[in-house]
Amino acid sequence: MAILHSAKIFLIYLINAIIYKNTLILSYNNNIFFENMNIKLLLIITLIGNCACFSATLLNTPLYRYWNCIGFKHCFVDNKPYQFNVGEIPLIAWKTENNTYLSTLNFCKHFGSTLNEGKIEDGCLECPYHGYKHSENDKCGVIVEHDNKLWWSYNPVEKVPQTIPYIGEDFVSDYIEYEMNENLPFCMYNSMDINHAQHIHSGIFGFGSDIPVKNYKHIKKAENIIGTSFDHYLKGNIKLMNKNVSLGTEAFASNYHEYIYPSTTWSVVSHDEYKKLVIGFSMTPVDTYKTKWYVTIRSNYMKEGINKNILNLAARMILSQDKKQFERQSKNTLLRDSFIHTNMLNNEDHIQDMKKIFKNYEYPKLKDFIDYHISNS
Ligand code: FES
Ligand SMILES: [Fe+2]
Repeated sequence: MAILHSAKIFLIYLINAIIYKNTLILSYNNNIFFENMNIKLLLIITLIGNCACFSATLLNTPLYRYWNCIGFKHCFVDNKPYQFNVGEIPLIAWKTENNTYLSTLNFCKHFGSTLNEGKIEDGCLECPYHGYKHSENDKCGVIVEHDNKLWWSYNPVEKVPQTIPYIGEDFVSDYIEYEMNENLPFCMYNSMDINHAQHIHSGIFGFGSDIPVKNYKHIKKAENIIGTSFDHYLKGNIKLMNKNVSLGTEAFASNYHEYIYPSTTWSVVSHDEYKKLVIGFSMTPVDTYKTKWYVTIRSNYMKEGINKNILNLAARMILSQDKKQFERQSKNTLLRDSFIHTNMLNNEDHIQDMKKIFKNYEYPKLKDFIDYHISNS
């Protein structure tokens, strides 16, 4: 069995090596990005991301068994419990004396109090009603710190949470938390969608242009990973923000976007030979039509002071434009179930693939989770 398992891992590694190498050449048309990219690093990320043996059956696994981002590393206030939910599952977490994290249902199994106003003492979360001390024995799921974020999972199927790539060593990171009024699949489609930029991200604060994208490619990397690459027209405002891109000449930025089932997308935009911007989205659904976006911004330019703030502000402007669209989205389930995606535009082959991956996705329901939790305890 062990030999078979190792052979399988080696095969996956080899396939990824071939796919990545081809993808890089295919996607970026030999631009400098390929030459600079640390392919080994990407392979390792993919290998981890694929959890050593991703199979189609995992696409049927409930979301609570994946790593769900619940906040950034510093979101815990000392000695205060941290309340969050994954779909309908209400949870509470706290830091123990050894600086590890514990989580339990936000529900005291004594007389049913919520625990978010509980005290933390001796590494236990004390219920405010009669003082029951919640400890390791009451834990529900696990919390880990990874890539400057905190993640929760119940009986996780992935070894580690997804990492937003660094691409190179001289990158700095910045983070934004945002809430969008849409479900997880449609938030994911949006972050991989090429066609809305022209309409939603137009104007002086947007990067969208009515000049069509060039060199669209759709790359199916693995059962759970979809990529797309294209060249996007660089508008004057973006050139101005990036400073040393010549204003007079027509330029296109190389883009590569990647979706990893269920809740990660990241993209890299190459503004010129040196300047790369990576935006990553780690998302967690918190209501039927509400999803938390934990946004990672990584760049090797505009790294400090006011420039870093400008980049952060630009990202917030773009997020607010998407938010406005999500508020416009019809939430009529009958219409959505009957007609959505029956009309499609160009450059959307990768969205069709994502749709197939999401076929068995279900918003996490508390009843399903309780049944699973009871059968596993
Ligand atoms: S309800 Fe929590 S200790 Fe009684
Ligand atoms: Fe957008």
